[in-house]
Amino acid sequence: MSSSLRLAKISPQNVDAACHLRVHPDQERFVDPVVTSLAEAYAYGEVAWPRVICDGEQLVGFVMAGFDPTHEVEPYRSYLWRLNIAADRQRQGYGSFAVAAVCAEARRRGQSRLWVSWQPGVRGPEPFYTRLGFRRTGEVVDGEIVAKREL
Ligand SMILES: CC(C)(COP(=O)(O)OP(=O)(O)OC[C@H]1O[C@@H](n2cnc3c(N)ncnc32)[C@H](O)[C@@H]1OP(=O)(O)O)[C@@H](O)C(=O)NCCC(=O)NCCS
Repeated sequence: MSSSLRLAKISPQNVDAACHLRVHPDQERFVDPVVTSLAEAYAYGEVAWPRVICDGEQLVGFVMAGFDPTHEVEPYRSYLWRLNIAADRQRQGYGSFAVAAVCAEARRRGQSRLWVSWQPGVRGPEPFYTRLGFRRTGEVVDGEIVAKREL
């Protein structure tokens, strides 16, 4: 993997490229577009942790975590909210890098677990999350499979 890989805050310089990022058309049912995530990030303020994933000067993906440490529902204290890797940049380790970075941020904030949920289905992200150590909790919320990873 490239050594120039990094996460960056949303900025005037990268927001347009972030909004134009697209996953494969048959993956669009598994993730909201970046514009929706950025609107939610605006609405949720300090809870949202949105970042673009850059390889050198290229924007290759978008990730957003949510951290609400005093939330009464445990999964909302530390969760992977969105992850979109550009269609032509998938299977090159960028998604794994982003999840590792979110895990590091969660640990830095004193969290010991990271939660995620996904829609089941062909071309869905289940093999990816399973490979990264997320384990199903047995819950299904709004049709999404809930999973967590111990940090
Ligand atoms: C799921 C997603 C984020 C994975 O990102 P990525 O950068 O392609 O993932 P990585 O390259 O880090 O993959 C790591 C491993 O996960 C597994 N994996 C990733 N995508 C997979 C797929 N489509 N099918 C099966 N296994 C997959 C593989 O084991 C892969 O390792 P390998 O390539 O050496 O075999 C990306 O496919 C994506 O953006 N999908 C559309 C949006 C989405 O579903 N987001 C999640 C919403 S909850």
